Amino acid sequence: MLEINNLTKRYGGLTALAGISLTVGRGEFFGLLGPNGAGKSTLMSLVSGLRVPDGGEIRLDGISLAGRPAAATRALGFVPQSLALYEDLTAEENLGIFGRLYGLGGATLRTRIDESLATVQLSDRRKHAVKTYSGGMQRRLNLAASLLHSPQLLLCDEPTVGVDPQSRNAIFDLLRQLNRDGLTVIYSTHYMEEATRLCSRIGIIDHGKILALGTLDELLAQLSSSEVVIFARNGAAPTAVAALARFGTLREQADSCELHLAPGVRLAEFFAAAQAAGLPDRAFQLKRPTLEDLFLHLTGKTLRE
Ligand SMILES: Nc1ncnc2c1ncn2[C@@H]1O[C@H](COP(=O)(O)OP(=O)(O)OP(=O)(O)O)[C@@H](O)[C@H]1O
Ligand SMILES: [Mg+2]
Repeated sequence: MLEINNLTKRYGGLTALAGISLTVGRGEFFGLLGPNGAGKSTLMSLVSGLRVPDGGEIRLDGISLAGRPAAATRALGFVPQSLALYEDLTAEENLGIFGRLYGLGGATLRTRIDESLATVQLSDRRKHAVKTYSGGMQRRLNLAASLLHSPQLLLCDEPTVGVDPQSRNAIFDLLRQLNRDGLTVIYSTHYMEEATRLCSRIGIIDHGKILALGTLDELLAQLSSSEVVIFARNGAAPTAVAALARFGTLREQADSCELHLAPGVRLAEFFAAAQAAGLPDRAFQLKRPTLEDLFLHLTGKTLRE
């Protein structure tokens, strides 16, 4: 569905994308996980044709975007990170405008407005001005606007920002259903829980580069499964903590310590050293690594830092 080759984008002296390559297959639910400023929105704006790259190539369904072919971009829908709605207008009026921009009109447009509003469960509020909507309802309408022309590829740029958990789940369910019905989805987020829950494949992005790419299991396989050990801070003397720090990267939290074992460290060796430092095996808890741990491993910082 989408092929990206060595894509670069600069804003003046700042390199926002530094040579990104990736492929998204038809029917995939692809996650783009990265912290603030990683380049997620820039990538989406290039794929949607809103911005032009400085180098590299994008192919949509085999067609290069270089010539800005309308047929190719018409196959995609874009849910921008900032709400793109006219708040003095009703839902129906907003969708009417976006639908006409997509070339829809007459009975087809009316039908698609009905269907899109039903999909995002806003049919009963169709005649109300958008400014009277809650944040979650506005997000859903933003999504409906991208679905009017029945795209094959949907780009969702952090579609749950500022949304309560209930509306978030509604958006998740909706996107999952659309994906099951055949829509290819590219979903950007800085929440590893969202990428884990939703996406069949994930690309981890930071400083304009893809750091890792694969299914959740493939990504986590880059970390040994016993990589993270946790122990109570107050149960461990400072000298014991210092003795264990040489086994990896130590992150001290309020009441616990997390130690991300360095590659190659054997657990038996670690536990022997811990015992010698006065900490029995039962002082420790092993944690299944998460995408957050992988990100930390790859960059030395957390997704939120
Ligand atoms: N229009 C612009 N002009 C100049 N610099 C920009 C512009 N848009 C983005 N940038 C810079 O490019 C880099 C990537 O920004 P981008 O918006 O793509 O990141 P992001 O991953 O979407 O971040 P966020 O999670 O905060 O939305 C950042 O350093 C940002 O400051
Ligand atoms: Mg962004």
